[in-house]
Formats: sequence, C-alpha cells, structure tokens
Amino acid sequence: MSPEVRRAAEILKRGGLVAFPTETVYGLGADASSAAAVARLYAVKGRPAEHPVIVHFADAESAFAWAREVPEAARKLAARFWPGPLTLILKRSRLAQDFVTGGQDTVGLRVPSHPVAQQLLKQFKGGIAAPSANRFGLVSPTTAAHVRHDFGDEIDLVLEGGPSEVGIESTIVDLSGDGGVLLRPGAITRQHLEGIIEIQEKTAASPRHAGGLERHYAPKTPARLVPPHELDREIARLKDKVAVLAFSRPDERVDFWLRMPREPQAYAQRLYAALRELDSAGCEGILVEAPPDAPGWAAVRDRLQRACSGS
Ligand code: TXA
Ligand code: MG
Repeated sequence: MSPEVRRAAEILKRGGLVAFPTETVYGLGADASSAAAVARLYAVKGRPAEHPVIVHFADAESAFAWAREVPEAARKLAARFWPGPLTLILKRSRLAQDFVTGGQDTVGLRVPSHPVAQQLLKQFKGGIAAPSANRFGLVSPTTAAHVRHDFGDEIDLVLEGGPSEVGIESTIVDLSGDGGVLLRPGAITRQHLEGIIEIQEKTAASPRHAGGLERHYAPKTPARLVPPHELDREIARLKDKVAVLAFSRPDERVDFWLRMPREPQAYAQRLYAALRELDSAGCEGILVEAPPDAPGWAAVRDRLQRACSGS
C-alpha cells in the first residue's frame, strides 16, 4: 500500500474529497456514509442535490450490503463483470441514505478494477461516493491533470493513476424492477449483457439519472455531429475557425484537426481528452464526423450525441 493511498483513505475518513483513477474515468470521492462529506462533494461539483451518485466498493460482497434485495441477475452480472466498468442499480438497504440516492429508493453500486481504486477502497473499508471528477455537465476527466485543471486546490488530493483505460463512464444496468434495463451504454455493451441476462427497452418509467439529461459530457465550444459524406461540404462552407474530430486525414482548410481511431474501444479511450483539446483550441465551433451506426459504437455515439446536443 503506497503512503499516498493511505493518506487518501485518511482524508476520506475525515470527510475530505479525494479524486482517484478508475478504469472508466477519474472519480471525485467522498465517504458515502457521511452526509457532510457528500454535501461538500455536491457543492464542489456543482451538482443538484436530487441527482443520485454511484457508490464504489472493493468487492461484490461489500457492495451488495448496500442493497436490500440482490436478484439472481445482479449476482450473475457481478460474477462476470466485477471488478470492472459496470454499475448496478438495486433497491437500497438502510446503509444507502437519501443524500447518496437523491431521495430515491434505489442505489447505484460499482466495483472498479483500477489497481489504485482497489487499493483505496480496501484501505478505506467502506463505500466511496464518486461521480466523475468534472464540473456538472462538462467533459469527464481521464487523467489526473484533467482533474487538477477542473478543480485546482478545491479538493484535498488527486491520486495519480495514468490515463483511464476505458475512457467513458461505466455501463449502468437497472435491476431494481422486473428485469434489466440498460440506462447508460458503456464498454460493456448490450450484446455482452444479453449474453448473461435479458435486457428490456428503457421506458418512461425508468428512473431519472443525470446522464439522461440531453446536454451532458459537453465541451463549452458549440459542437455539431456531421455524417461522413457531408463533412467535406461542411468544411467548404466554413467562415468561422473550427476544430474537427474525424476519422480521415487532416484537411488543410481546417485550423485544428484531430484524427480518431476506427475502432470503438480505442476511440472511447481517447474521446474525452480529444474533446478537451478541441475545446481549448480557441475555435468558434467543433465539427465531429459521426461514427458508424453499429452496435459496437453505441456508447461512443451516446456521448457524442450529448456533447453535440443543444448547440
Ligand atoms: O464510470 C463511472 O460510472 C464513473 C466512475 C467515477 O465510477 N462515475 C460516474 O458517475 O460516471 P456520475 O455521477 O458522473 O454518473 C453516474 C450516473 C448518473 O447519471 C446518475 O444519475 C446515475 O449514475 N445514478 C446513480 N445512482 C442512481 C440510481 N439510484 N438510479 C438511477 N441512476 C443512478
Ligand atoms: Mg459524470
């Protein structure tokens, strides 16, 4: 156990805020049993109090103690995907208080696989409430430098863990009703889940969640999704300085161009760092070449649609 991780666990015990790496994105952690710590977390993040937060644990057994019912489907998914980039929504036990569930009768549980997150959770010996370590509505952080850029010294410690391997937030499956509902797509895809349990379509009755807001994960610069066959025409028509995120080779008419991999996992891993880079390029707009409408791209397309909505 590194001295830095031990210090991080002590800070959390005292009600402080510690950002830590996970395999998906960096999280901003607080003691999930402390109303005061979680209140400070929400204040720093700028998050409305009625939005629930995911609680992180070292293993499935400690996670399930926060649920009052653990359906067979939850045990199966946990056995297959934990530790890993999956969050399960279950009916809460008394350990999950209103200040982490946003007053709902359910709780989001996750067991991350990143070795630093694992060490921290083992040392802390409790649930760590952690949203992504970015300001509400903006792009999630995938490096410690992103977190320091967003929060500076407003938080007590940032644990270093290298660039996040997955790069986009965990897949969220709601198992609090009858059957499983996919609330947020991620690296664990619908197809992966359907290999293990039945997944139903999301309905209007599905629980609200922050990731469900239209505009989220968004850069400050207005961004627009463009079908591949229209990219050239859009560029030809440009008057403003724009930044482009595309699969193809840079076009000399464009001031700032980032080329992305044609494979969804590699694309996801680089997505948020790319959006941050495009956002700081000092352009009036961002054009994003739309990825293929294929199952493997569902999570990336979901984040891009949100990043580009309403601007
Ligand atoms: O990969 C991740 O999940 C990252 C890392 C840090 O673990 N965390 C993350 O947290 O993305 P956050 O707060 O940025 O997004 C959590 C999402 C929100 O959309 C929240 O509303 C939803 O999970 N959520 C949490 N608890 C819920 C519940 N009880 N019912 C429905 N949605 C819930
Ligand atoms: Mg977030």
